[in-house]
Amino acid sequence: MIGVFDSGYGGLSVLRQIRNLMPEYDYLYLGDNARAPYGPRSFDVVYRYTLEAVEALFSRGCEIVILACNTASAKALRTIQRNDLERLTAQYAPELADQGRTLRVLGVIIPTVEGIGDLTTSRHVGVLATQGTINSGSYELEIHKLWPDIVVTGQACPMWVPLVENCEFDSPGADYFVKKRVEGILRTDPAIDTLILACTHYPLLMNKIVKYAPAGVRIVPQGDIIAQALCDYLQRHPEIDERLGKNGHAHFLTTEEPTKFYESATIFIPHTNVEVEQIQL
Ligand code: DGL
Repeated sequence: MIGVFDSGYGGLSVLRQIRNLMPEYDYLYLGDNARAPYGPRSFDVVYRYTLEAVEALFSRGCEIVILACNTASAKALRTIQRNDLERLTAQYAPELADQGRTLRVLGVIIPTVEGIGDLTTSRHVGVLATQGTINSGSYELEIHKLWPDIVVTGQACPMWVPLVENCEFDSPGADYFVKKRVEGILRTDPAIDTLILACTHYPLLMNKIVKYAPAGVRIVPQGDIIAQALCDYLQRHPEIDERLGKNGHAHFLTTEEPTKFYESATIFIPHTNVEVEQIQL
């Protein structure tokens, strides 16, 4: 299976885009809703929680895990790839380890920044994300590896995730917080012509973000980019692709109450039959 992990519900927006592009694959989604949000948490905690989640997905038969969560991608991906993948492969896929191969964990930051250099004309890019992602400096680092000339400005939007989680993304109250952050980042750098929505939840605020961004500013959500990047990755790695189930199934795991997950999942992936199982990490 393809595992998709998020701290909560937001990764469902990424899963939706992946399934739109590759409906034939089997997916296992895990939301660590009991411990969300990850945004304000420290490196150590995000790493530990993410590792537990990745292990849970590997132990249930995932060959590849997408960290749909930007905070987890920023704070845990590198360390897991470097320190834990070999051990996890030996434990959950010994036949792969015997061939000198590993299970895979992929994040969302590198695929997102890869196309940015072609989108910005002014070479000034803004990143809207959780406090954790902004503090990590990961977007700036990865953008500068590919595009050293681009000026990157980060803006934490701490109220945006709670607005979405509490179904307030369409409410008049959300306008205040969206306006404040969008206008704030454009005041810091008025030359920005491209704004990356570097958080799973922000696409749900798109209507309001567009409302407060000037017409010439391009808003870049991640779902499509991640889906296309995964599709390309599997084409480049047929040895991984051939081990993936292709029955069009999706199963959902949460660390919180399944009923609550079910209700919120319908916001992110409407019209989908969601079967939810509660697990403990
Ligand atoms: N999934 C997180 C992200 O994309 C947002 C929610 C959280 O803070 O846990 O950064």
